[in-house]
Amino acid sequence: MHTFYTNPSIFVFSKIRTNMPNTISGFSKLSKSQKIEWLLNTYFTNKDNARALVKQYWNSDDKLQKLHDEFIENTITNYYLPLGVAPNFLINETTYTIPMAIEESSVIAAASKAAKFWLDRGGFKAEVLSTEKIGQVHFIYKGDFNKLKAFFKHVKPKLISDTASITKSMERRGGGILDIQLRNKSQDLPNYYQLHATFETLDAMGANFINTCLEQFATTFKNEALKFDDFNTEEKDLSVVMSILSNYVPQCIVRAEVSCKIEDLKSKDIPNPEEFAQKFKQAINIAEIEPYRAVTHNKGIMNGIDAVVLATGNDFRAVEAGVHAYAAKDGSYSSLTHCSVTDDIFKFWIEIPLALGTVGGLTSLHPLVKFSLEMLQKPTAKDLMKIVAVAGLAQNFGAVKSLTTTGIQEGHMKMHLMNILNQFEATDDEKTKLVEHFKTNVVTHSAVVEAIKNIRA
Ligand code: MEV
Repeated sequence: MHTFYTNPSIFVFSKIRTNMPNTISGFSKLSKSQKIEWLLNTYFTNKDNARALVKQYWNSDDKLQKLHDEFIENTITNYYLPLGVAPNFLINETTYTIPMAIEESSVIAAASKAAKFWLDRGGFKAEVLSTEKIGQVHFIYKGDFNKLKAFFKHVKPKLISDTASITKSMERRGGGILDIQLRNKSQDLPNYYQLHATFETLDAMGANFINTCLEQFATTFKNEALKFDDFNTEEKDLSVVMSILSNYVPQCIVRAEVSCKIEDLKSKDIPNPEEFAQKFKQAINIAEIEPYRAVTHNKGIMNGIDAVVLATGNDFRAVEAGVHAYAAKDGSYSSLTHCSVTDDIFKFWIEIPLALGTVGGLTSLHPLVKFSLEMLQKPTAKDLMKIVAVAGLAQNFGAVKSLTTTGIQEGHMKMHLMNILNQFEATDDEKTKLVEHFKTNVVTHSAVVEAIKNIRA
């Protein structure tokens, strides 16, 4: 059945199958307004309100809006996340104000508090341990492995030389393809082999560079196999399944650390530093051996990491996937942070894989990403790895410190208070009074509701 959707200015043509309501073909070819009208007609009862909302989030600068529209397909509007900053991070003797894009109320407050705490205790030390990225050509080969090995040896120089035009500029800057290995995976999956390639992509995250190289490897590999005399017909017909980078980068590692004398941990929140250090270490040890706790523990770390990764225009899904795989590298999901309390010294550190870029991708396109990178003093990818790892460590320090002392809800609910007040559309005057009230009262959802009622009565 064909249906015409109408609005004052346009006709949207859509194909609806009777047994599959609300489907449409050719949606991506519609204009932005046509897409919105289709959505309004299909899903919304109050179309005027929904249309006004979508348009309210458009940027008033048409050129800027178009830039955002073109980041993805089928854009209808912008989805805001707050961009906040956490100042006072001292990392390897440089101070940073770290940009963080995140919706969770207590994250930036916790990061800022941890930054200040360690500012007075020597700051954070961070070090990039390795920067190698990985990509693979996955293929099926039905034949003699020794012949495949001989073919790989023969074709390897050509795999490299055929990518010369792709790697030229990366090589000029000191990066490029590091190595290509043939890997036999046929024990795990019949006839399955890989070209396992490693790359140095410098300040670029490198996804496009790596994938372009891999697709060229695949083409060369396949073409050359057809010409390889020692292969029989079936062996010549090896089949490439896919060519893609890996987001698991266990050789692209950064380590960040804080340490101080146990007695120097003493502060308003830590009246007994020795007891605090021991309890903090126990909490880390629990996350090291107990996956249920480790997942939440690492989620807290990712609160900090994702927020900076997002603010700097990097791919937080890639980072998430790689980091969690790393957390499970020893066969059981475990903590990304570790702690030692020895010889009067408290030491707390994180070691994580981070494939980040400060050139390419969104970094030179999204105005707020450029702003964030300038705020971070135009970091190299290695600098950014250190900053992001420190944000994760600081976040975890703040969370575990709260968990092992006051409990998490006190700080969390204080920060969440504003969300509850906004839900009840509190006026500025009501907000001022209630924030004051909850400085000395425990924030719970019901207590806030009660307080609003009282004020309004
Ligand atoms: C909440 O977003 C994060 C925490 O649960 C992390 C943790 O438990 O360590 C507080």
